[in-house]
Amino acid sequence: MRIYIDSADIREIREALASGFVYGVTTNPTLLRRANVRAEGVPGLAREAIASGARELHLQTYAGGLEGMVREGTSLAQLDPERVVVKIPATAVGYAAAAQLTAQHLRVTLTAVYTVRQAVLAQSVGAHYIAVYLGRMRDAGLDALGLVGQMQRTLDIQRAGAQILAASVRAPEEIEALAELGLATVTLPLQVLRQLAESPQTATAAATFLEDATAIQ
Ligand code: G3P
Repeated sequence: MRIYIDSADIREIREALASGFVYGVTTNPTLLRRANVRAEGVPGLAREAIASGARELHLQTYAGGLEGMVREGTSLAQLDPERVVVKIPATAVGYAAAAQLTAQHLRVTLTAVYTVRQAVLAQSVGAHYIAVYLGRMRDAGLDALGLVGQMQRTLDIQRAGAQILAASVRAPEEIEALAELGLATVTLPLQVLRQLAESPQTATAAATFLEDATAIQ
């Protein structure tokens, strides 16, 4: 499973990438605002993330209109065509922009997908990733895992190339259920990432190994 950090805070991004199991970074305007990064600061943030080992960056457009989305998406991708995936909200205009960008062979993530039909449309416009908001689905009273499982099965049956990227994930246990459903990618906030490798039993075993290793030297 590919794991990303969902953040625009370079200190958090560096810590996550240093773990060795984080592949890349996902951002959105809300995360940029929270981290006090203005739109013009995104190229610098992207450069720093890549220098810290990010292999893929999902950078979101800011515009509400088609032309703006396509223009911004094109210029975000130009920051590093190998690593940048353009993220666009899965609105009617967003699908039209995504179709134009994928026609230019740019990789696109359609984000804030809440229904199976939106996932099908994302596949139709050639999106590489379909970002679903697990926690927010639950906030809206939806059976989030049931819905995401249905999306994954639909994409599998369609032999679709698009991958579901689970976002709005708020607890470390969620990754187990998502992996079991066959999801290939997940993005997590730092406080959830920090808990992933934690196990009191493993910590006890590692401490015993260390004691015994000292005794035999
Ligand atoms: O990537 C989406 C994420 O930033 C939203 O998370 O927990 O605020 O719903 P949350």
